[in-house]
Amino acid sequence: MLSEQSAATVRATLPVVGAAIGEITERFYDRLFTARPELLKDLFNRGNQAAGTQRRALAGSIAAFATHLVERPDERPDVLLNRIAHKHASLGVAPGQYETVRHHLFAAIAEVLGDAVTPEVAAAWDDVYWLMANALIAIEARLYAAQGVTAGDGGWREWEVVERVEETADIATFRLRPLDGVPAPDCRAGQYVSVQVQLDDGARQIRQYSLSGGVGPAGRGHGVRQISVKRVRGAAGVHAAPEGEVSNHLHARVRQGDVLRLSPPYGDLVLDAADGDVPLLLASAGIGVTPMVAMLEQLAATGHRAPVTVVHADRSPAAHALRAEHAAYTAKLPGAGTHFFYEQPDAGHPAALTGRVDLAALPAIPAGTRAYLCGPLPFMRAVRSQLIGRGVAAADIHYEVFGPDLWLAQE
Ligand SMILES: Cc1cc2nc3c(=O)[nH]c(=O)nc-3n(C[C@H](O)[C@H](O)[C@H](O)COP(=O)(O)OP(=O)(O)OC[C@H]3O[C@@H](n4cnc5c(N)ncnc54)[C@H](O)[C@@H]3O)c2cc1C
Ligand code: HEM
Repeated sequence: MLSEQSAATVRATLPVVGAAIGEITERFYDRLFTARPELLKDLFNRGNQAAGTQRRALAGSIAAFATHLVERPDERPDVLLNRIAHKHASLGVAPGQYETVRHHLFAAIAEVLGDAVTPEVAAAWDDVYWLMANALIAIEARLYAAQGVTAGDGGWREWEVVERVEETADIATFRLRPLDGVPAPDCRAGQYVSVQVQLDDGARQIRQYSLSGGVGPAGRGHGVRQISVKRVRGAAGVHAAPEGEVSNHLHARVRQGDVLRLSPPYGDLVLDAADGDVPLLLASAGIGVTPMVAMLEQLAATGHRAPVTVVHADRSPAAHALRAEHAAYTAKLPGAGTHFFYEQPDAGHPAALTGRVDLAALPAIPAGTRAYLCGPLPFMRAVRSQLIGRGVAAADIHYEVFGPDLWLAQE
């Protein structure tokens, strides 16, 4: 908890820091990457840096944490902290690196706010930083311990691609087995792994991919795990953007017999033990299907009996990756049903399931339903508000964002 004196100073300076935080984090990253270029090359996602999304996530999280500290000092914002800690653990972030980040962050604050940063203001924000950093370090230590790895080593291992399947024109599945034959760590449906690849310029970039299968009992131990990767195409014109670096590398270069470097599984969008008895709703759009198929595999393997509503949105049936598994695992669950919405459906597809997701097309959503969402933010926002409108408690709606979590940072 913040000292009373720090709390008063943080409360008084929040508006000024909040207003400048975009500029502060921009200067912070400039300083960090000038001093430590290898961090941009081999740890941070340089696509996110170029697009500015990570910047907004970091800025938003610090502002959200400081606001939380002064407004609700007795609670910890666990959702925010867990999400960041899982991401950090999947990257192998080590406690010693927090001092490096603090050093460059505070130099950036002093540069942007100038004389407004009195020793008292600096001390109060230092308090905020270390409260957040120490909370993250503690969660990350537990995550590393649970995987039997040490911070800094991160538990990276080599996995052999035993099969590659073209799911759609843009999505490929890679089935993987540990190269050394040592049993793979247990994973939970909904989790992701970080994948590190060496690109042509020598950078070793890291991205996260949700496990899209191999999470049931058969996938454990020496078994096969899988990820499904959507190739991120470039765009021309006003919103010009280059092709995604890692997804295109995986599509263009990685075949059966090749080796990928993977972190242990992390991520907190996982089925709860308590989910065994409750109705569930799994809603995805596009490549957001990956964690949902893994969850359905697990539910089918464990014989889940409560109702499960499966909702998916895609451009067309041909673009719907893992469609057969999506339907087949659902069919194994008693009282479960699929509701696949397509913008360009095949002939004969129900009119009510044509176009964007509209939960009004579904039968009643059972009381006490717990919902898991994954897809682009506008899709998740729309589904979330429809679910709340149909009586699902906000606390029972969980989600995964396939990028820096700008949603959480804004809440
Ligand atoms: C928890 C989690 C789970 C995920 N699971 C999956 C999954 O199961 N399957 C999957 O396919 N993906 C998944 N992702 C997304 C994945 O991690 C990558 O973000 C995705 O593959 C894109 O990476 P990339 O290297 O190809 O693109 P990047 O090179 O990182 O580019 C990302 C975007 O930034 C844009 N960009 C880059 N440079 C610039 C610039 N200079 N100016 C403007 N824009 C720029 C690119 O055009 C692109 O649109 C997941 C992400 C997370 C966080
Ligand atoms: C208190 C200090 C820190 C805060 C508040 C913080 C906050 C964040 C946030 C909000 C994200 C985005 C999470 C998401 O939604 O995906 C993130 C990701 C990340 N953090 Fe931190 N972080 C801190 C310290 C560190 C340190 C010490 C390192 C290591 C040098 C680090 C490296 C990273 C990396 C590499 C990513 C992923 C970036 C990307 O993929 O674009 N962070 N952090």
